[in-house]
Amino acid sequence: MGEFRRNILVTGGAGFIGSHLVRLLVRKYPDYRIVNVDALTYAGNLANLSDVENAPNYVFVKADICDFEKMCSLFESYEVDGVIHLAAESHVDRSIRDPFTFARTNVMGTISLLQAARLRWEAAEGGYSGKRFHHVSTDEVYGALELDLPQGGPLGEGPYGTRFFTEGMKYDPHSPYSAAKASSDHFVRAFHDTYGMPAVITNCSNNYGPYQFPEKLIPLFINNIRHGKSLPVYGKGENVRDWLYVEDHARAIDLVFHEGRTGETYNIGGFNEWKNIDLIRVLVKVTDRILGNPEGHSLGLITFVTDRAGHDLRYAIDASKIHEELGWEPSLQFEEGIERTVRWYLENQEWLDGVTSGEYQNYYESMYMDR
Ligand code: NAD
Ligand code: DAU
Repeated sequence: MGEFRRNILVTGGAGFIGSHLVRLLVRKYPDYRIVNVDALTYAGNLANLSDVENAPNYVFVKADICDFEKMCSLFESYEVDGVIHLAAESHVDRSIRDPFTFARTNVMGTISLLQAARLRWEAAEGGYSGKRFHHVSTDEVYGALELDLPQGGPLGEGPYGTRFFTEGMKYDPHSPYSAAKASSDHFVRAFHDTYGMPAVITNCSNNYGPYQFPEKLIPLFINNIRHGKSLPVYGKGENVRDWLYVEDHARAIDLVFHEGRTGETYNIGGFNEWKNIDLIRVLVKVTDRILGNPEGHSLGLITFVTDRAGHDLRYAIDASKIHEELGWEPSLQFEEGIERTVRWYLENQEWLDGVTSGEYQNYYESMYMDR
């Protein structure tokens, strides 16, 4: 086994959630080697991990998960005994424009990793014993829920409906992104059922926090408020999302990877539903306050634009399984999480400028021109 007790391959570790997970694992388990494999697409950024890049138990490898030969060689050279797979194309709007890339990375990339793990582990002494393949997925595979409690809570937070996503629910994806993620989940289960791959799957709701690429709602809007740019609300802003602070997701992944039951799926969510328009008003309020603007200063930036095609109305997770079996629950109140998040983006303008220059500007402007 070499000098490390475990060798964990994390894919997509230079992205938003992956970087929080890598940081947690590198610090919490000095006796594990954490091998971060990332292709560094537009969404991957090594600056997200500058605080752990020199840790003795951390290795970065720039590679595409679809490169099967390369994945096989990594399993061998690092004696990988655990995988936490996050690498994916993750933005719904991009998937509507370019479904092929999503099928390639999210489906073929997952199969490539599963097959590399299978070949290595089946040939190993002890076979699959002590091995684990953790696939990180999304609540979007379940489709959309109805809004049948339209009033929500006193601050505009939910719940907005009587039904929630549970682990046994039938898959019903609507976007090319969620269809590709659903397909990857099916392949993970197929490898478990067919070859005995010791797999677990987690399906999580919307994450927010530092290091999220500013094409997603929360960082995009904070950055736009700062620069006095319009805030493009899709449709009427009635869609509901269940928001979870990213470090709470990373903690849940760590827990399921170590203690979840093989072959099981665990839903992870924030018990924290917000209608987009209410969330956006909160963002405006907090950002204006921190910037020293008068209350309501940036509300006029809100602009209602053409809705996203196939826009799912409501996501809401029932996270009681992970709570009851493993004792996990979100640790951070939304008010505190949003305050921290807004402050982080306002204090890290250099990071934002770094990731939004060049190619991204062209993409963002063309998104706008189409609407
Ligand atoms: P992200 O887009 O911020 O990061 C994705 C990372 O994967 C990037 O570092 C990118 O460079 C890398 N990557 C992309 N294609 C690759 C390839 N072919 N080979 C190797 N690396 C590649 O994504 P995120 O928001 O951090 O999401 C991570 C995972 O969590 C995804 O699987 C996503 O489906 C899932 N998820 C995300 C959320 C959310 O709210 N962001 C919620 C639930 C689940
Ligand atoms: O639910 C989990 C999913 O959450 C993850 O699997 C995805 O990877 C992640 O991107 C996220 O998907 P969403 O589509 O919900 O996130 P996004 O930030 O793109 O949008 C959040 C909501 O805000 C959604 O209802 C669309 C709306 N929106 C988004 C943008 C970017 C707007 O109204 N205007 C915008 O400009």
